[in-house]
Amino acid sequence: MEIKASGTPTSSIVTAGAELRRLQADSGIEYLFLNRGINAVCPINLSEVIKTVDFNSPEVQYYPGSRGKAGLITAINNEYFNGNTQNKNIIVTAGGISGLDVTFQNINVDKVLLPSFFWGTYTKVFTIRHLNYDFYDSLTELQALKNSKQKIAVVICDPNNPLGIKLKDEDLVETIYHLNNIGVITVLDSPYRRVYFDKKDDFYQKIGMLENVIIVESFSKSVGLSGFRTGFVHSVVPEFIEEFAKRILYATNGVNALSQVIIEKLLNSPEGIKAVQDFKSKTVNDISLNIKYLIDHKLIPAELYESKDAMGIFMVVNVSEEILKKNYIGSVPLHYFTEKFKDRVKDYARICVSVPHPKFTSFFNALINKG
Ligand SMILES: Cc1ncc(COP(=O)(O)O)c(C=O)c1O
Repeated sequence: MEIKASGTPTSSIVTAGAELRRLQADSGIEYLFLNRGINAVCPINLSEVIKTVDFNSPEVQYYPGSRGKAGLITAINNEYFNGNTQNKNIIVTAGGISGLDVTFQNINVDKVLLPSFFWGTYTKVFTIRHLNYDFYDSLTELQALKNSKQKIAVVICDPNNPLGIKLKDEDLVETIYHLNNIGVITVLDSPYRRVYFDKKDDFYQKIGMLENVIIVESFSKSVGLSGFRTGFVHSVVPEFIEEFAKRILYATNGVNALSQVIIEKLLNSPEGIKAVQDFKSKTVNDISLNIKYLIDHKLIPAELYESKDAMGIFMVVNVSEEILKKNYIGSVPLHYFTEKFKDRVKDYARICVSVPHPKFTSFFNALINKG
């Protein structure tokens, strides 16, 4: 049959992951899969929450509606906006990726600006959706943008994937207000933020009410449920939400009802709140210890971090992917995450630091002791 090729390259990260699993199976030696982008310190314990779900109910078994379940939307409003937005500004998505994909179908822009170090999936989506893109190096560069005839959107990912750098909230707010005032759309895609922050965080309230801001969120990282394929998008522009609802309806017929029921319980039932708190505190504890280990052992490239805060689930190490692999550690070469600085970072790799600290140290101690 004749097909319409999208021109999107196959993800090298997926191929490299399959190769690592093959190496482990063939050698019988355990590998540490730091090439992945998941929180793996511990699973979230859903046992108590599941007991409260009625699997025989229409709520679980029937179509969930195109905008998402009302109960989940109210819970999202309370958790992420302290109840200060309107439920009609929120729409449930099939994870962050579906929020991004539908957002980029939905906005009329000439180009999208990405951070110089970016999650490679963005450009894959842009290829499929025929969008132009370019890069920015810093918030200062965005603050210097002026009103122009060109219609621009900017993606902000903070803490950043792949660097794990967290910029200051004041600087982000100032930049996003400036972009809003000059008619540039901010797509805020920060799924790692809520691993660290909880309900008390008012960042989304500060910027979410601006016309040119679209918040894309996900439950994949913040509560460790990437398998649930659930997230949400927030915008105060009714036409954006209406069009979004149509696009997602005719692509999915609604987002998985069971996932929505369980996530609602995680956000607003006593059992759920406890499960999330336990998950986040264990996860953040081990991530922080792992980052400290890397800093103490001078395993991070100083020029990338300078005096910046690191708090994502990822870090970049000054060890190449090949050397890490020889030491049974999976990683992704950093040059996969940049088009601008490929040469400069060719000996560095991105690792996921969200794994149990004792395991992390045992693999890295072995690497260091080898010399
Ligand atoms: C920066 C960034 N945005 C969005 C996502 C989307 O994740 P999901 O589709 O699982 O919600 C990811 C996943 O790795 C990511 O790294």
